[in-house]
Amino acid sequence: MKKVVCVAAALALLAGAVVVTNRSGAAEEKGKTIKQIMKQGHQAPKGQMALCAKVAGKEPSKEDAEKLLALYKDLAACKPPKGDEASWKEKTTALITATEGVIKGEKGASAALKKAVNCMACHKVHKG
Ligand code: HEC
Repeated sequence: MKKVVCVAAALALLAGAVVVTNRSGAAEEKGKTIKQIMKQGHQAPKGQMALCAKVAGKEPSKEDAEKLLALYKDLAACKPPKGDEASWKEKTTALITATEGVIKGEKGASAALKKAVNCMACHKVHKG
């Protein structure tokens, strides 16, 4: 399923103006909606760790970290249903910076990512 979404998003990007329709039926011009990003990056699939937890954990794979980084770049480009733009930019930038740090193997990056990926802190301000 995840692969299908990614391929669909990639095709949409290639086609440029193609509109991706998400499962709730709402049309989005971007490849991914916040909800899709939450599912792929933050929600743990049955019996597994969420992608963000894997990347913030011990010895993350570069592949996982790069997948998460791509999701966060898309997330930063999304518009949240609630809250102001400056706060959204600050939170999504913190996620991107921390994930880039993990990819580069920077010290303290996984702690920064754990802090930035605070579900409730962001949902309280930005989730509709
Ligand atoms: C940078 C902000 C931010 C962070 C951090 C964040 N979320 Fe979200 N999340 C959102 C926003 C905004 C929505 C609402 C999206 C909408 O309604 O379009 C959302 C929605 C969701 C949804 C609902 C998806 C749906 O289909 O309705 C789930 C589940 C979710 N988040 C899980 C998580 C989990 C788990 C974490 C922590 C590991 C997390 N989120 C961290 C911003 C964030």
